[in-house]
Amino acid sequence: MERAIALTKITSWHFAARLVGVRLLDQVGIYTRKYLPRQACAIVSDSHVAPIYLDRVRIGLASAGFRPTLITIPAGERSKSLWQVGAICDRMIAAGLDRQSFVIGLGGGMIGDISGFVAAIYHRGIPHVQIPTTLLAMVDSSIGGKTGVDARAGKNLIGAFHQPSLVIDDLDVLKTLPRRQFNQGFAEIIKHAIIADAKMFRTLQSGEPGSARDLQRLIERNIRIKSRIVAKDERDRTGERALLNFGHTIGHAIERAGNYRRFLHGEAVSLGIVATCAISVKKAGLPPDQRAAIVDLLERFGLPTRLSPKFPRKNILNALKFDKKFEGGKVRFIVAPRIGSAYVANNVTLDDIREAVGQL
Ligand SMILES: NC(=O)c1ccc[n+]([C@@H]2O[C@H](COP(=O)([O-])OP(=O)(O)OC[C@H]3O[C@@H](n4cnc5c(N)ncnc54)[C@H](O)[C@@H]3O)[C@@H](O)[C@H]2O)c1
Ligand SMILES: [Zn+2]
Repeated sequence: MERAIALTKITSWHFAARLVGVRLLDQVGIYTRKYLPRQACAIVSDSHVAPIYLDRVRIGLASAGFRPTLITIPAGERSKSLWQVGAICDRMIAAGLDRQSFVIGLGGGMIGDISGFVAAIYHRGIPHVQIPTTLLAMVDSSIGGKTGVDARAGKNLIGAFHQPSLVIDDLDVLKTLPRRQFNQGFAEIIKHAIIADAKMFRTLQSGEPGSARDLQRLIERNIRIKSRIVAKDERDRTGERALLNFGHTIGHAIERAGNYRRFLHGEAVSLGIVATCAISVKKAGLPPDQRAAIVDLLERFGLPTRLSPKFPRKNILNALKFDKKFEGGKVRFIVAPRIGSAYVANNVTLDDIREAVGQL
């Protein structure tokens, strides 16, 4: 059932080949050969994903004539560091990889971000191939060319725009993804539905995709939604791309307040969406029944919509100060006037946010 949304328009100037389907992993060599007439490459993966999938990708690449250098880093966000970037580059230099080589990232968003950043800076930029292995990476982080690592002061503070040349989404890899990780991908999918696709929202209301084909369609649809938004504002400057941050201003603050341990990103975003909907009812006229439908849908996908009474809400407000959007006291906040539409509002105050967080 392999299908290519070949040459998806990723930005106004960039078309990346994108393959979505099943049983693609063993064919990675063949597809890569088609799109990248090069030989030497590094495969960057993490310590959870590599034992399950790296061998299949390596064998496929070798039999198609590639010379892959395997680099595995510890799983987890802590690996998304400048130190690790240096270590990966050193390994690539030692393996003799030059300007004619390329980098393959095999893993979730953490691997996609760091391998993409290495590709952006190695010999001033070499091609990047992504093989996302989490739902979140397939529908979100592998689209749009944002790459980078975390700094001690905060997440994703160091990075570069570098579009992948090829992305291969093999649905089969999702079978080994822990349930909680799978569910958090739905937070971004529901976000896409709220900001841009009322029809997809209704489809989601009838439950989780029942078959591989339905899941494939859903992933393709989300790739198109994000690509379309990114294409209008690839460098995140005009405000269009900011719509993708719906639920994220508060979500990021909750993530930080939980010391990045209490909630997965998608779970924090789910809570952020709930609070943002309360603000949208007040400031953008979101009908209360649509707000209730959104909360229902998040719950249906096993995502949190309430904070425990013990959770220190004060820390969420403190964490908001770290958000780049709050610089200079100006708040740019994404609201939804109805399901399927969003805009950047400038009439949302910190008090509105405090109130919405208090209700979680
Ligand atoms: N570049 C962007 O535009 C963008 C957008 C959203 C998120 N991100 C970044 O993405 C990262 C989060 O991505 P993520 O949620 O995929 O996290 P992740 O890459 O850390 O993966 C989550 C966990 O699942 C494991 N895993 C991955 N695939 C697996 C599989 N198929 N089977 C079993 N285990 C598997 C990983 O080893 C890890 O332990 C963050 O660093 C975030 O900043 C980037
Ligand atoms: Zn997100």
